[in-house]
Amino acid sequence: MNDPNGLVFADGVYHLFYQYHPDGLTWGPMHWGHATSRDLLHWDEQPIALYPDDLGMIFSGSIVIDHDNTSGLGHNGKTAWVAIFTHHDPLKEKAGGNVHQYQSIAYSLDDGVSWTKYAGNPVLPNPGIKDFRDPKVFWHDDTRRWVMSLAAGDRILFYSSPDLKNWALESEFDGFDIATGNVVECPDLVVLDFEGRKRGVLIVSLVTDAPNGGSGTRYVVGDFDGYRFVAEHDDVRWLDHGPDNYAGVTFHNSGDQLLLIGWMSNWAYAQAVPTAPWRSAMTLPRELRLVMMDGKAVLSQSVPSVFDGQTSLDENWPSDLTAVWREAGGTLNLCLKAENQPSFELTLSNDIGDRMVIGFDAMEQHYYIDRRNAGQNSFSPDFPIRAAAPRVGVGNGTDIKLYFDKGSVELFADNGTTTMTCLNFPRADYTSVELQSFVLPVNGRLTSAPL
Ligand code: FRU
Repeated sequence: MNDPNGLVFADGVYHLFYQYHPDGLTWGPMHWGHATSRDLLHWDEQPIALYPDDLGMIFSGSIVIDHDNTSGLGHNGKTAWVAIFTHHDPLKEKAGGNVHQYQSIAYSLDDGVSWTKYAGNPVLPNPGIKDFRDPKVFWHDDTRRWVMSLAAGDRILFYSSPDLKNWALESEFDGFDIATGNVVECPDLVVLDFEGRKRGVLIVSLVTDAPNGGSGTRYVVGDFDGYRFVAEHDDVRWLDHGPDNYAGVTFHNSGDQLLLIGWMSNWAYAQAVPTAPWRSAMTLPRELRLVMMDGKAVLSQSVPSVFDGQTSLDENWPSDLTAVWREAGGTLNLCLKAENQPSFELTLSNDIGDRMVIGFDAMEQHYYIDRRNAGQNSFSPDFPIRAAAPRVGVGNGTDIKLYFDKGSVELFADNGTTTMTCLNFPRADYTSVELQSFVLPVNGRLTSAPL
């Protein structure tokens, strides 16, 4: 599997659709898989929602609930859920000509269980743009129309529609300044109230050139008036500085809760990671909000409290973290808080020499995750890395939350303004956890002080 698709919340249930190749461990003819959850922690697999057809494979897209029946697809008092997705025609792609991706819709009258493709597909034909995909649609209240963000090569196009069937181009946003050959994917424009006015946050994934290699996700804060997006800053902002958070999008219909799930992998090695009989997982869900940091409106992310574990460590860090780790079976979350911003290093290890290191470097003012010796990594030269993330702003102390699962860690630092998601494949479970803290540098050198 890869990207999350059509995230939607309805009647107490979170629905996660996703890019799915049911017949193999590598990318192939894409379907939409489907899973549901009431608490975001426990998930039930559901039947496949969308299958490839004559128009092509089913690439990424979104779902909206058409409460007002603008599409006319609601029937007999049943509200239509409408999926807006990209059809990708591999035969047309082979033939050349750049028109092999176009946008189509399907609808469900039973809350996402079964789906019917719309007879008039595609609803948005390809105007001759090679990469033309991943429609994310929301209802724009002020203009009372649907708005679609769509990835088109190195830019995002915005379309509007009264009925989800007829789409008109409104504008484009090309302020990403990316290298030739790189493309944007999976856009998501979110409009939210912040400090007395509405802001738009445009989330977008880039296939290459992420700060720690391969693919990654950025965001831009700005204004959106229903027609045009205008950025309010030029600096490049990454949603996550780890190597493994891609194609993230937010839930539709989740009220004030703005909730994002990403795909926990990277196209640089996604097809080679050593797992079987499955491949790939999603990140933890993240609640997004804007906060002010050094005079800038920046994104802050946190994981819903249902994932909170038992272990919170402040400056009185226990000497026997290993016991805590073993008790939790290696899947736990830790909170580290320090007022005086010491550098620290947390090392997970096992008896056969695998070491995964997570730290904060006070000199560099950055967080890092080092998986160069964390177990299996020969499957790709892009995997063994020390990933680093600069702090977004310097607060009064450090606060770090770490969520460990088998084979992954997710870090949220400084009120969630810096995050890192990182896979690792130890050859055996980690059995030891050590925390080292360092006093601040004297003469430019860090001296270590074991706890
Ligand atoms: C992003 C992506 C999308 C596309 C899908 C195909 O990871 O490349 O742009 O719709 O995956 O599986």
